[in-house]
Amino acid sequence: MIDDTRRQLIDNIRIAVLDKNDETELLTEAIKLIDTFSDGFDWTGFYLLKDGILEVGPYVGPETPHEKIELDKGICGASVSQKISIIVDDVNSDPRFLACSVNTKSEIVVPLVDGDKVLGEIDIDSNQPSFFTNEDREMFEEIAEIIVNRLKEVRVNV
Ligand code: SME
Repeated sequence: MIDDTRRQLIDNIRIAVLDKNDETELLTEAIKLIDTFSDGFDWTGFYLLKDGILEVGPYVGPETPHEKIELDKGICGASVSQKISIIVDDVNSDPRFLACSVNTKSEIVVPLVDGDKVLGEIDIDSNQPSFFTNEDREMFEEIAEIIVNRLKEVRVNV
């Protein structure tokens, strides 16, 4: 179930990306809106799949040492290679975890899926353990769909 607050974020993003015809501008706007949704989001960003490698896109948060991530590395790589959303309640007990900050306790990664392709992903870290819920996953999956549809339109027009 998606509650009214989450529905509001989805609607705000849908409206905000409508008139963005530049990929970076579109993703920057979306990630800023996502980041302001919760004080518990401590790194909020996109990774984009380019030539089989994930490259960091627009983000809000501390600089990450992981600007590029191979698909067999990290929770980021696992989400894209399996085309599934992943919530990790305790990153320190997940051997796949690549740390951006020592303060990170939990993480959600939602892939940007376009049929059998993946364009990238939304990645959010929290300094609070078990921060992300199933409702968040549902919300980010809807947001991912909006972003994918808009990205496809923007890329065609390049
Ligand atoms: N934690 C991610 C790496 C990305 S940084 O957190 C920004 C992972 O384990 O794949």
